[in-house]
Amino acid sequence: MPATAEKLLKACREKTLLRFITCGSVDDGKSTLIGRLLYESKLVLDDQLAALARDSRRFGTQGDELDFALLVDGLAAEREQGITIDVAYRYCETARRKFIIADTPGHEQYTRNMVTGASTADLAVILVDARKGVLTQTRRHTRLASLLGIRHAVLAVNKLDLVGYSQEAFARIEAEFRGFASRIGLAEVTAIPVSALRGDNIVASSANMPWYAGPALMEHLDAVDTADEDAAAPLRMIVQWVNRPHQDFRGYSGRVLRGRAAVGDAVRVLPAGGEASITGILRGAAQVGAAEAGVSVTVTLSGDLDVSRGDMICPAARPAGAASHFQAALVWMADEPLLPGRPYLLKAGSKTVAASVIGLKYRTSVDTLEHVAATTLGLNEIGVCNLETAEPIAFDPYADCRDTGSFILIDRYSNATVGAGMLQFALRRDANVHWQRLDINKAARAAKKQQTPCVLWFTGLSGAGKSTIANLVEKKLFSEGRHTYLLDGDNVRHGLNRDLGFTDADRVENIRRVAEVAALMADAGLIVLVSFISPFRAEREMARGLFAAGEFVEVHVDASLQTAERRDTKGLYRKARQGQLRNFTGIDSPYEAPTAPEIRIDTEACTPEEAADAIVTYLTANRLRN
Ligand code: ADX
Repeated sequence: MPATAEKLLKACREKTLLRFITCGSVDDGKSTLIGRLLYESKLVLDDQLAALARDSRRFGTQGDELDFALLVDGLAAEREQGITIDVAYRYCETARRKFIIADTPGHEQYTRNMVTGASTADLAVILVDARKGVLTQTRRHTRLASLLGIRHAVLAVNKLDLVGYSQEAFARIEAEFRGFASRIGLAEVTAIPVSALRGDNIVASSANMPWYAGPALMEHLDAVDTADEDAAAPLRMIVQWVNRPHQDFRGYSGRVLRGRAAVGDAVRVLPAGGEASITGILRGAAQVGAAEAGVSVTVTLSGDLDVSRGDMICPAARPAGAASHFQAALVWMADEPLLPGRPYLLKAGSKTVAASVIGLKYRTSVDTLEHVAATTLGLNEIGVCNLETAEPIAFDPYADCRDTGSFILIDRYSNATVGAGMLQFALRRDANVHWQRLDINKAARAAKKQQTPCVLWFTGLSGAGKSTIANLVEKKLFSEGRHTYLLDGDNVRHGLNRDLGFTDADRVENIRRVAEVAALMADAGLIVLVSFISPFRAEREMARGLFAAGEFVEVHVDASLQTAERRDTKGLYRKARQGQLRNFTGIDSPYEAPTAPEIRIDTEACTPEEAADAIVTYLTANRLRN
């Protein structure tokens, strides 16, 4: 390779990398700005320029001039609408630095993309239209950027040309923004007056704004020091896979996320907490003595700890935490609201565990930053919650380490990512609340009653006949000498659950509580009958999960909506149809029928008496001791 080319490549390799996001409101000129940055850094090819000139005439908003926004807005749909509708990564570079730009949409409903873009960025360029000033969207995006761990912000006040390059307009916006930034703890803000369209203060200082003495945007991005990563940060490595090619080798592969791993280091493996020392580090096929952050390696450990995928390797002296109860900030990204109590899947690092929000502490108003009492989070809303995972996970507070402090929540059925979160700290109850060992247990209590405890979970539409059939079943069992208890929706709602209504969130909580009560009763040795609409599959599955295998018998009391409505024993369907009763199951609130219940009762084909007999027969055949 010629010496000059080699030099060039070396210089290129030595360039530092800055990842930044651009955010702002629709029409603030974000695409134009990025287009301008790409153009100025000479990364636009001739054929792209020709296409740009052609497109500018056809779709552009700038007459015969080049419309840089078109260079960036790659999608046909957004050309027509004039808005950006997806996140995209752009690359550009200067003599000193390489840049990865996450171009995140300004549209309110695209918080999700903004979260994706911001979570790996070091800096945010926040665009504000000089004519409009700081908007709700500006605050929302700035807050999200800060929440996602971005410490450096550039306030680019754009379209200064349209306000006569007014110093006063710039100063007013800068002051308002700085006030907001300091309230949310965003420490470093550099404000730059620009015109992306005219190129003012983009690569070089503009003669149109002699009153501005600071750097041009590119100059600032070139020079800003974001290397605040603590060089002495403790090791964090998450095991991505257990490498076991043969009996004599067992290595753990993954990337060193932070700090440094060295042969001989004493480490702790979380969440289990076993300790060992590093006996070897393989980088590719080569043995190395140590590995720095960013490098993918396979490490071998002394002793024979049980290490599996998703576990975290950290220094024994400076370990991460391991817990199953947390306080966390949560950004909701789904159309369906968050349902506290519902089991979701939580994915942190390479580990996926069941988790639920056990309490929503508050929602944050984007505008006033006030904490607002809330029972749920809707699309794009941000809140702070208490969270419980089904098993302990290794973590750091997000403020200390983004890689090991962030998580996403996934809907178990649709598999969609519904939320993104940042762990703040472990709740102390993990260390303070333990299981008390009791000498008299479920088996002993059941033996005394000479029966096998179980739960008969009746689900179905209102008026399907659940309570009638459950009542008959209980009578039959009772007369046989069985010890039973019937938990009926209407009755439980008069006491334990009298604070709950019929919103989705309340129904989730309704079922969570009754499932817990049923589990306690089964633990007391009883045969429990639960008769609740229990309209959601997720909560019925959650209830099932509280019982031992075979103990949970789901009974679908099946009646079509027409039949239930025709019976209308309580007159509620009529009220619902007349609009006097909201959120009525089957009318304006969903019922998700069981797909594989243990027993299905077709109430249109048999009498309640026959249904009850069938259920008792099932019990006798499957579990009741005679
Ligand atoms: S669940 O959906 O949360 O499981 P649950 O079984 O406790 O409901 O209560 C249902 C009973 O409440 C119904 O049998 C009916 O008598 C009464 N009810 C009152 N309003 C509603 C409503 N909007 N939807 C369904 N049931 C209602």
